[in-house]
Amino acid sequence: MEKSKKRLMQGLSVEINNCKKCELWKTRTNPVIGEGSVDARIMFIGEAPGYNEDKTGHPFCGAAGKILDKILVSIGFKREEIYITNILKCRPPGNRNPTKEEIDACSSYLDMQIEIIKPKIICSLGNFATAYVMEKFGLKEKVQGISRIHGKVFLHNTLFGPIKIIPFYHPAVAVYNMNMLDVLKKDFAVLKQVR
Ligand code: URA
Ligand code: SF4
Repeated sequence: MEKSKKRLMQGLSVEINNCKKCELWKTRTNPVIGEGSVDARIMFIGEAPGYNEDKTGHPFCGAAGKILDKILVSIGFKREEIYITNILKCRPPGNRNPTKEEIDACSSYLDMQIEIIKPKIICSLGNFATAYVMEKFGLKEKVQGISRIHGKVFLHNTLFGPIKIIPFYHPAVAVYNMNMLDVLKKDFAVLKQVR
């Protein structure tokens, strides 16, 4: 079981490495596919690679990643037991927001990753990931700005069983604002109960 998941994910990596479905392939250094356990029960979905992620090919390895690591440690989680990816696999120049066209072009990869991993809990980080995931799972009418729905648990039944969707602030909000780090830690604590 575990092996075939790995094989499926490797096949997907090859596809993403060769992808030219939107213009971002032209300016990327490396696509950032995702990282962690394919058997994870919890999946984190961010927005798009930033400068450091583009340089290294690893998700959340820059300033926002350091914040994410701090929060995970605070709730006793290891990166190895979760899976982390983004909606877009290539960096938008200058870290601008993803466009609708780019999300439409790239999201099938995220859909396949969700299908392969079959997580029990999906944590969306920030507005873009939250809107995408909630719309995907039929919760469109419940979508609100992240300041209104962060830390709330939404339930949905999928073909692979019930899942929980939990929106969080994007960890980047805490890079220059320690108060937000406390808010994030408090929100993430819900994962200890629903784990
Ligand atoms: N921000 C994101 O949304 N994803 C990353 O991988 C890094 C920063
Ligand atoms: Fe392909 Fe996604 Fe990269 Fe666009 S962002 S080139 S769709 S992998």
